[in-house]
Amino acid sequence: MQKIASEKPFYCSTARVRNFDRISILFSDEELLLADRQKGRLFLAFMRIGLLNGGGDCPGLNAVTHGVVGAATRLGWEVLGFRDGFEGLLAPGDYKKLLLRKTEGILKLGGTILGTSNKGHFAGKVGEGGVRKIPAELMDDAFRTLRKLGVSALICVGGDGTLTTALQFQQEGFPVVGVPKTIDNDLDATATTFGFDSAVQVVTDSLDRLHTTADSHRRVMVLEVMGRHAGWIALYGGMAGGASCILIPEIPFSYEKIADAIRARERFGFHSSLVVVAEGAKPIGGQQMGAAREGGEIRLGGIGDVVAEKLSELTGKETRCTRLGHLQRGGSPTCLDRVLGTRFGVEAINLIAEKRFGRMVSYRQYHVGSVLIEDAVRKLKLVDPEGEIVAAAKSVGIHFGDDDVIPLNVF
Ligand code: F6P
Repeated sequence: MQKIASEKPFYCSTARVRNFDRISILFSDEELLLADRQKGRLFLAFMRIGLLNGGGDCPGLNAVTHGVVGAATRLGWEVLGFRDGFEGLLAPGDYKKLLLRKTEGILKLGGTILGTSNKGHFAGKVGEGGVRKIPAELMDDAFRTLRKLGVSALICVGGDGTLTTALQFQQEGFPVVGVPKTIDNDLDATATTFGFDSAVQVVTDSLDRLHTTADSHRRVMVLEVMGRHAGWIALYGGMAGGASCILIPEIPFSYEKIADAIRARERFGFHSSLVVVAEGAKPIGGQQMGAAREGGEIRLGGIGDVVAEKLSELTGKETRCTRLGHLQRGGSPTCLDRVLGTRFGVEAINLIAEKRFGRMVSYRQYHVGSVLIEDAVRKLKLVDPEGEIVAAAKSVGIHFGDDDVIPLNVF
């Protein structure tokens, strides 16, 4: 056992530290209180970490908090949770101390115990993909709050907008670690985000319910789902829920071809059909549907109703539309999102312990690691129309509104 010396209080850690050698070099004698090579344990000086959630809520946010607080507490560190995203950093600071005792049981809760904000003073994006520089006086205000509270690193959990703001904090000299969050699963730097599985589960459950009415009444049931410019929720939910047709932003569709597909099913004796429409889907040569909102970004939605009306007109079949909306973001996370969120939270603390700031936690090939935030933001991950997943869906007869229809009775 090697004592490195410190006057500071001693914090006992039961956690085994990852990258023992790397960390023991990185920390000064002041910061590194004790190193036990044999047991792979390091006792780091006390640190106070800030945590905030930005953007829309998402199942699994509380699992991340659970991971952060659990891992930090075992290193002897303290976590301050800022309320309503970056807004909580404005003077005098709106926060709560996240003690292990107080976060017991949050893992399974939907939403976020910290609150979040979509836009507000620190919005890092304008319109579709534009970057907004946060005014210097706001940054100064936030930095003052963080300094006054003795916070030495900030974990920002959010989507593209939140991570764009987080990057500005890092570039202005405040150590930041990012954690990606979105039900849309559209961030390129990570194979998946927590929240996606929960949203897909809601879509699947909804399709199972719509199926029974579709069958009983020989109807076409259209389900409009979220996902912004990416079709992942529609694709996975549609495949899991037995949709006959899936319309996604990446594959512009023809109303006539979808109607052909429904007629072909009818001739074969399948009198009901489920059609999943992503909110960002658009007809060939057409535009996405939605309303402009503050900041210039479009609030997508409404295409499901148009698809239902057109299909009723073209096929003569009774057709109904359900817009699933925020039901996809609410409620408890699935077990997969609980585990992924927890792992992301723990990794955020590992990155701070290793002083690897300016990085975003990511998930690739069953492994939680990290990438530079600047390499992660503003790169959308879209469905590949020629890729394996779409090909698999087409192989089992799912129509995407683009191909000519092959009659089912030729098989
Ligand atoms: O990014 C998540 C998401 O739920 C999108 O799928 C959807 O388009 C958007 O947020 C809705 O945002 P809001 O709750 O602000 O209307």
